Amino acid sequence: MDALELLLNRRSASRLITPAPSGDALDNIIHAGMRAPDHGALQPWRFFIIQDEGLSRFSAVLTQAAQQDRLDEEVIEKARQSPFRAPMIIAVIAHCEENPKVPQWEQVVSAGCAVHAMQMAAQAQGFNGIWRSGAWTHHNLVREAFGCRPQDEIVGFLYLGTPQLKASLTVTPLDTKKFVNYF
Ligand SMILES: Cc1cc2nc3c(=O)[nH]c(=O)nc-3n(C[C@H](O)[C@H](O)[C@H](O)COP(=O)(O)O)c2cc1C
Repeated sequence: MDALELLLNRRSASRLITPAPSGDALDNIIHAGMRAPDHGALQPWRFFIIQDEGLSRFSAVLTQAAQQDRLDEEVIEKARQSPFRAPMIIAVIAHCEENPKVPQWEQVVSAGCAVHAMQMAAQAQGFNGIWRSGAWTHHNLVREAFGCRPQDEIVGFLYLGTPQLKASLTVTPLDTKKFVNYF
């Protein structure tokens, strides 16, 4: 797929079914993530591939987090079910180090770029997904499950799979004028 065509027409997909990327396709996704712009070559990211039994383990963590917060049964159930919306999730952690030239926010942005690059690599290979975050990214139990230290951030959960619906061919035109200024 042409890079410009992908960048200009990309859309997320939330209805995802099997197959999830595997083998070379998954390897390409991880490599694309690791090509994200990276000030100081710190590689400030960690990826956790969640699939099969991992989805159940992740579901158990989210359920426990919702129970710890004494949320309504409906919310707890939503948390329990949420990982099963895709056959694969990649949790992306900004693994930040103290650095005199690269502040923590730059390292978090790098990890965010990695998420986007991985989503684009998935779409380029016929898969797709959606970047999700939500309140769980800050929950102590969820952070603990992904080995976050105080300086680390969960930047997102990239839900991946095969889109159930064909992407719409008509993309909404963008009003660039509103957002672009000449300095
Ligand atoms: C950091 C970040 C966190 C996000 N978290 C969520 C989320 O928790 N739930 C959600 O539905 N969309 C979330 N989104 C938005 C979707 O990934 C997606 O961009 C949005 O649905 C618009 O669709 P599009 O990508 O096709 O334009 C998040 C996006 C970013 C950049």
